[in-house]
Amino acid sequence: MLDKLETLLGEFEKQLRDCKTQADVLNLKAQFLGKKGLVSEVLGQLKNADATERKTIGAKANAGKSSILESIEAKLNELELSEVNKKLKEQRIDISLRESLFYQGAKHGGPHPITLIQREIEDIFLTMGFEIIDGPHIEDEFHNFEALNIPADHPARDMQDTFWFHHPHTDEVPADGKKRLLRTHTSTIQVRGMSQRKPPFKFIAPGKVFRCERTDASHEMVFHQLEGMMVGKDISVANLIYFMKTLLGEIFKKDVEVRLRPGFFPFVEPGFELDIRCLVCRGSGCSVCKKVGWVELLPCGMVHPNVLRSGNIDPDEFNGFAFGLGLDRLVMMRYGIDDIRHFHGGDLRFISQFQSY
Ligand code: DAH
Repeated sequence: MLDKLETLLGEFEKQLRDCKTQADVLNLKAQFLGKKGLVSEVLGQLKNADATERKTIGAKANAGKSSILESIEAKLNELELSEVNKKLKEQRIDISLRESLFYQGAKHGGPHPITLIQREIEDIFLTMGFEIIDGPHIEDEFHNFEALNIPADHPARDMQDTFWFHHPHTDEVPADGKKRLLRTHTSTIQVRGMSQRKPPFKFIAPGKVFRCERTDASHEMVFHQLEGMMVGKDISVANLIYFMKTLLGEIFKKDVEVRLRPGFFPFVEPGFELDIRCLVCRGSGCSVCKKVGWVELLPCGMVHPNVLRSGNIDPDEFNGFAFGLGLDRLVMMRYGIDDIRHFHGGDLRFISQFQSY
């Protein structure tokens, strides 16, 4: 029996060497070690042997089994490795591809100029201790209008042509009674920001806004604003002017000519329009500044007491300022772009000029 075992093991090693695939190896394993396999067959005859013989054969059989298992494991690993190597050879990945296209001047992605300026302004405000917050594109009437001191019958609603959401069939108002719309300005985030924090605080909120506008060189239906708000004790117009001047100086990296005029926005009192001298035509008049030489860049003002109340802040104790920066116009001023429609026009020749690599 001992001889039989020896031959069996020799036979196994020989057949294993001939295995070409992992499946072959697994079949061989079943053939030798399975319940009705060759090794079990030999061991089945053990009952006919005497006690001492049984002991040596038993030990030998167990050692044989483990050596078979070890060989199988090694062979499986070896086959797997060679299969992986074979695949790697056949399906070679050409990692030089992107680079070679790059050198041939192929177009590749990068941040949009509006994203670039947004990041830059975020950094400026972060260094001044502002938080950055976000709000939804789909808003309700309350956050877009009422909370900002613009009631349903207020003529100021006409200032912003709004995309409303209607029920496709019934034109019904949602169950909570608030009609939905695409936010017309980032001022919606003022109330969300106020009600989530306790004064003093200061935050900015950049994002897309939507208006049902006729497009021209300076108007688009989708554009970008960056809202800012600071609330605390004894905040004054001087604080507002300081922050706005610091911001513009950082953005344009030079002294820009600015002017402040009274402006009406229901959510601020007093309200201002901060204009800068047109950097496209340097004041001589062009399509961007509508031939007046100045561009409205930064509407701002002291937060109206009603708006503070909407954000659960006591206007007798706290006050603050707010501003809404138009990002598209800012990029136009900086690079001398004469038509806002280039931003979403999809022309790669335009967009690739701003990529930083
Ligand atoms: N939300 C205004 C708009 O889109 C801009 C604005 C004006 C924002 C005055 C303000 C502000 O925060 O104080 O036309």
